[in-house]
Amino acid sequence: MTVNPDETFYASCALKLTRWYEQNRRDLPWRRTRDPYAILVSELMLQQTQVERVKSYFVRWMERFPTFASLAAASEEEIISLWQGLGYYSRARSLHKSAQMLVSDGQETLPADPKYLARLPGLGPYTVGAVCSIAFDLPVPAVDGNVRRVFSRLLDLDADPVKKAGAAVIAQTAESILKHGTPHILTQAFMELGATVCLPNTEPHCDQCPVADFCASFAHGTQMQRPAAALRTKINRRLGAALLIGSSSGGWLIRRRPKGGLWEDFYEIPWLYGSENEDFAGCLERLREQLSSPCPCRDSGIEETLKFTRWQVRVRLYYAPIPAQIPAGIELADTEKMLAQPMPAGIKRLVERALEKVNENQLDLFAPRL
Ligand code: ADE
Repeated sequence: MTVNPDETFYASCALKLTRWYEQNRRDLPWRRTRDPYAILVSELMLQQTQVERVKSYFVRWMERFPTFASLAAASEEEIISLWQGLGYYSRARSLHKSAQMLVSDGQETLPADPKYLARLPGLGPYTVGAVCSIAFDLPVPAVDGNVRRVFSRLLDLDADPVKKAGAAVIAQTAESILKHGTPHILTQAFMELGATVCLPNTEPHCDQCPVADFCASFAHGTQMQRPAAALRTKINRRLGAALLIGSSSGGWLIRRRPKGGLWEDFYEIPWLYGSENEDFAGCLERLREQLSSPCPCRDSGIEETLKFTRWQVRVRLYYAPIPAQIPAGIELADTEKMLAQPMPAGIKRLVERALEKVNENQLDLFAPRL
């Protein structure tokens, strides 16, 4: 059940969260400033990294690179060595590039403009929201995993908060609360509540929560079910058969996938997947009929799983020599050409594994027939 909040709800949440944050906020180095550059540095460091770990890195970084200009002028080696230990170095490289873009745009610091910020490398909607609200006091929500959990519970949201519909409800509610108070305080209050009180799974400290009186999950006792898990889509599992026909010296039979379907313009070796209870032998039988080929086949023992939305097909590879008559719609390709074609990943793996065996003389294409 998802509740529909109103103006009184937004205003009450804004008031309670503001008071709570002012009394309970942790003293963190990036909370002693509103400098947009420092806020951006802290938010990028805090993505994927624990608060305790970020503290000393943030202080060192700000000492060495106190402004965008000082960062823009630094070498990539120095930047990477200062970031060493935080991991995910693309964050540091993006920050460096952003600094260089600002300098070349003649900007001393970040402008209070979400559209401009969104064009900087490495700044997604979360980071744009964090900088806009914390540094510029604009009502732009910053929704990360903690904030998602807080709002999923507050609203008793039954939609998956990562998917479009759920994410839109959360962003709209967060924005409305920001508009009823001071965005730079409230954004951090949402984060702080998620990090210290509204903890995941069985850990929420609802007795310490400033908005428990307005929390729909608390009222319904559904805290442990929120955020709602993604609705599990049923996976269809099938078996399939593929045929590697040919030899290193004589070439291989491949075909182009049909227009308009899945993997359009990809190539493949002939293969198909079975109906619900069809086994490998049944699939192979049908594949041979489909190719109108009486080709003598052998089992390679090689299997791969092909995955595409809601489907997982375990395909077993068989092999055969080239028949006297090449079936319609099939092309002959040498090894190099075959490997150069785009193929569905699972089919490509089957082919590569088979060719390894051919190279090691472990796959005797002309051995007795199946
Ligand atoms: N995680 C992400 N941003 C944060 C912030 N500003 N303070 C504490 N934790 C955070």
